[in-house]
Amino acid sequence: MCGISAYIGEKEAVPILLEGIKRLEYRGYDSCGVATIFEKELVCRKGAGKIKDVNSKLKLFELKGCVGIAQTRWATHGEPNDVNAHPHFSENKEIAIVHNGIIENASSLRKVLREKGYNFRSKTDSEVVAFLIEDLIKEGNSMGDAFMKALKLVEGAFAIVAINRKKPHKLYVAKQSSPLVLGIANDGLYVASDILPIQKYTRKVVYLQDGDVGILTKSNYSIRDLSNVDVNRDVNELNEEIEETSIGNFEHFMLKEIHEQPKTIHRAFRGRIDNDTAKFGGLNISEKELKRIKRIILVGCGTSWHACLVGGYLLEDIAKIPSQVEYASEFRYKKPVLKEDDLLVVLSQSGETADSIAAINEAKKKGVKTIGLVNSVGSSIARLVDGGIYLHAGQEIGVASTKTFTSHLAVLYLLSVYLGRLNGSLDSEKAKEMLNELEGIPGIVSEMLKDSSKIEEVASKYFEGNNALYLGRHYNFPIALEGALKLKEISYIHAEGYPAAEMKHGPIALIDENMPVVVIAPEGRLYSKILSNIEEVKSRRGKVIVITTNGLEDGFDEVIKIPKVSDYLMPLVSVIPVQLLSYYVAKKRGCDIDKPRNLAKSVTVE
Ligand code: G6P
Repeated sequence: MCGISAYIGEKEAVPILLEGIKRLEYRGYDSCGVATIFEKELVCRKGAGKIKDVNSKLKLFELKGCVGIAQTRWATHGEPNDVNAHPHFSENKEIAIVHNGIIENASSLRKVLREKGYNFRSKTDSEVVAFLIEDLIKEGNSMGDAFMKALKLVEGAFAIVAINRKKPHKLYVAKQSSPLVLGIANDGLYVASDILPIQKYTRKVVYLQDGDVGILTKSNYSIRDLSNVDVNRDVNELNEEIEETSIGNFEHFMLKEIHEQPKTIHRAFRGRIDNDTAKFGGLNISEKELKRIKRIILVGCGTSWHACLVGGYLLEDIAKIPSQVEYASEFRYKKPVLKEDDLLVVLSQSGETADSIAAINEAKKKGVKTIGLVNSVGSSIARLVDGGIYLHAGQEIGVASTKTFTSHLAVLYLLSVYLGRLNGSLDSEKAKEMLNELEGIPGIVSEMLKDSSKIEEVASKYFEGNNALYLGRHYNFPIALEGALKLKEISYIHAEGYPAAEMKHGPIALIDENMPVVVIAPEGRLYSKILSNIEEVKSRRGKVIVITTNGLEDGFDEVIKIPKVSDYLMPLVSVIPVQLLSYYVAKKRGCDIDKPRNLAKSVTVE
């Protein structure tokens, strides 16, 4: 997490840096700061809070200089306060650094430095890097050598940019596990955690690799690995268009993104339907290899993990391929038994989630092919996997994922149809019918979004509660999980999602007249079963909010109607009301919907 932006060149650095960290605020927003070198002075302003507030309070924009570093933080070590905000100085205030990642051996390094007489100011793991550099310089090393040697001493994940007051024409950069990109422009060199802050200034970028340590001047750069050997990195040309990220007439990005779904679902399948099958440009795995696949493992985190759950059902149901779903964070450490005829499918909006990257590396080590279903073009996961399918949903700004969830579902549906056709489990007529139905989904969602008055009314009745339970079965069980997650994330109401029948094994003890229970119960294969589960809730006086395709059944407290579609595609439809419900509840509670407390959109630490 944390977003880094840095610049060295001919222009004033601070406007570039502030805009840069603003574009990266989705990575964390608990504090921020900027440091520049101006007239032989190293100056820094930083503080707790979101960029807009810190900037107006501390007037970051006043700093001058053509070289500088900035960071927007998501706290790992040390609470989010003014002192722990980045940049961090060395003890002698000659060096400033910004860091993204976790220095895992920070406490032992601090101990050694304390014994040498150094006094730390902050509680962060990051500060130790600036102190180490200072100490190594005192031992007689040049800044470049000290930077390199310091990085050899630290363990963990880092993207680091440093400046030294005595070297005002240089920026020092390093990457290990956390992303860092260089942008090469005529006026200077840009550095950032991803391409978003850079793409406006240049189309030429270099993605640093793990172990890269670079020294940048305004017109040049050199990169070495940690054994001090020069390395060459490709200069990539950015082809994609610069994305529109304005909020338009919406009050929040989350609401805007919910309303974008007819368009984004369409973009997920546009150009990918080929008569009775699907086609993908970038799978990079031959049909012969795909036919050999005996098992698919889907991994992801957060909302992407919920999409994996739907994907697991789709792949087994449609393509008849055994599928299992894993949290990326568990998969990476559980010593998974993997075989060469497995396929790892990784789902990620950002393409930067540290645990998902580690899961891919684990699979690759064991010779397993990997496919990424990713939204962010050119992201770490997009570059790491053997092949991929982009979501093309456009940048998602609201921290709580919405549109990329439905894009993931649409792509997983296409992938299931494609694999089903390939291995013969799906006949041509059925495939055509299924693809045809997918083409109708954007229109259906668009109609649903025209009137959210019932959902707003439900939100007004229940927004003051402290708990909620979400229930669903089969394809709608992941939607129950997603509904509960959305509510937790943005309204801070404790909510749990459960398979409806599993409720009897625990959560039923929580049900009384104060417990709203949102049941996703569309007509379909398990409709009568879930009606029985609803009775179990009603018998305990729980408040039942039913999301269903059916007419009003007697005795429900609230009914939110949704259109009828096939079971396979129902999650694309049934998720819309749970997204909106969480949005309107959070709005009634006055929460910061697009930037909920403690969360970040891109989780680049494990
Ligand atoms: C964070 C975000 C979630 C997201 C998850 C996985 O927790 O707040 O919205 O679902 O990371 O992120 P990814 O980018 O891999 O989909």
